[in-house]
Amino acid sequence: MENKKRIMSGMRPTGKLHLGHYFGVLKNWVNLQDEFESYFFIADWHALTTKYNQTDDLRQNIEDVLLDWLASGIDPDKSTIYLQSWVKETAALHIYLSMITPQNWVERDPTLKDLAKIMKDKQENMSNLSYGLFGYPVLMTADILTFNTHFVPVGIDQVAHVELSRDIARRFNNIYKTDYFIEPQPKLTQIPLLKGLDGNKMGKSFNNDIKISDSDEITEKKVKTAITDRNRIRKDDKGNPDNCEVVFEYWKIFGRDDEVSEISTACKNASIGCAECKKRLAQKINATLAPLREKRNELLKDKGLCHQILTEGSKKAGIKAKEVLDGVVEVVKMYK
Ligand code: TRP
Ligand code: SF4
Repeated sequence: MENKKRIMSGMRPTGKLHLGHYFGVLKNWVNLQDEFESYFFIADWHALTTKYNQTDDLRQNIEDVLLDWLASGIDPDKSTIYLQSWVKETAALHIYLSMITPQNWVERDPTLKDLAKIMKDKQENMSNLSYGLFGYPVLMTADILTFNTHFVPVGIDQVAHVELSRDIARRFNNIYKTDYFIEPQPKLTQIPLLKGLDGNKMGKSFNNDIKISDSDEITEKKVKTAITDRNRIRKDDKGNPDNCEVVFEYWKIFGRDDEVSEISTACKNASIGCAECKKRLAQKINATLAPLREKRNELLKDKGLCHQILTEGSKKAGIKAKEVLDGVVEVVKMYK
């Protein structure tokens, strides 16, 4: 393990994960965990930046995320899987970093700008935006620097944050005249973004997602609602797969090449209807997810499993985190 470069990444505990998470992030992590010393964490402090007053389902959401990770192939024997709030070194590191991060760097963060704008547009009380929320790009930097990480495998939406963590690492090095921190680099997935069933970004709050843990029946029901080529109204209208931005795009991910070209031809000459096409797609999706769903149901039987994995992982993560933090204390010349 010693000579491997380190990666780290995490997710907020939003509850059961969907296909966008699986194809956009998790598959990437699974592929990387052999090659790298890997740390994957559930960002429960980050959840508090916006949901500080909705913590009743935090426990369930953490376990649901973890079960989806395990079902997807994140392996606790290969990767260190931990809970953010159980590795307190990150909080200390966050303090050090927050002192050296210029306020206007944080204010530039695109996500925060969007959030502030949404709040204003909705005429919501700006005091609902907390101090902690504005610090979250710095907290994310602290997560990454906790292990002096080389690479951060994330979806495209997180790249700006990783860039900021590079800037903060560089600034730390400049201020304390050191090369202590590695400048972490984002590591993107090759898979194109998977749209939601309605053609918009896939997301839990938009009600347009398919969950890893959905049953076959629910999956089929959901696929039925997917948008198709809008010009194809009746079954004997000829379709155009290129205008079918959800169903046909999913086919390209879930089908074999020969199946995709068969569907394409059948759509164009109207020998298959959209209902049938979707039904077959749902079967494909279910077949692909069957091993994951089976594994998840199996893991679910062991009630203490999630707690145990997070306990062991957090202990392991804490060892490396302490080593890195001790170095920071040294470099900053804190009184010892
Ligand atoms: N901000 C990420 C998200 O919203 C989660 C996250 C927090 C993260 N800290 C991180 C991801 C560090 C990668 C590395 O999904
Ligand atoms: Fe899309 Fe399939 Fe309908 Fe063609 S037949 S428009 S690919 S859903």
